[in-house]
Amino acid sequence: MRNSSKALFTTAAVLGLSFLSAGAQMSEGATHGKTTFDSKCAICHSADTTDKKIGPGLKGLYTRGVMADGTTKVTDETVTDRIMNGKVPMPPFKDQLKPAEITELVEYLKTL
Ligand code: HEC
Repeated sequence: MRNSSKALFTTAAVLGLSFLSAGAQMSEGATHGKTTFDSKCAICHSADTTDKKIGPGLKGLYTRGVMADGTTKVTDETVTDRIMNGKVPMPPFKDQLKPAEITELVEYLKTL
């Protein structure tokens, strides 16, 4: 009994700490961007690996510097363009998301 409640407490403490440190690293905009990502993009894209789901995993997108097609440079312009206009089979989001939401998404993608 004692041990299992101690383990539970430790797990809760570790989860709490990693939550806090993630929160501390991310700006408010990036945090909003993550919420949008989770609801609109996560069905097709992983944020924590480069493994393909329906679309390429976006972990380290900005560090890689080049999109999965091997030629498109990763810049705020090209990423914004991809989100606004899509690229078959990725749907365009310009009618679903406000410009500010797209800016926040881009901010979030930079943290991956
Ligand atoms: C229905 C599935 C789907 C959804 C939803 C989707 N995407 Fe995509 N996305 C794709 C596919 C597939 C590609 C690859 C297109 C290609 O290069 O042929 C892609 C490519 C991308 C790329 C370029 C990555 C690279 O390395 O080439 C970015 C950035 C991206 N998507 C961001 C987003 C964001 C942000 C959202 C949410 C607003 C989103 N996507 C929603 C399927 C999707």
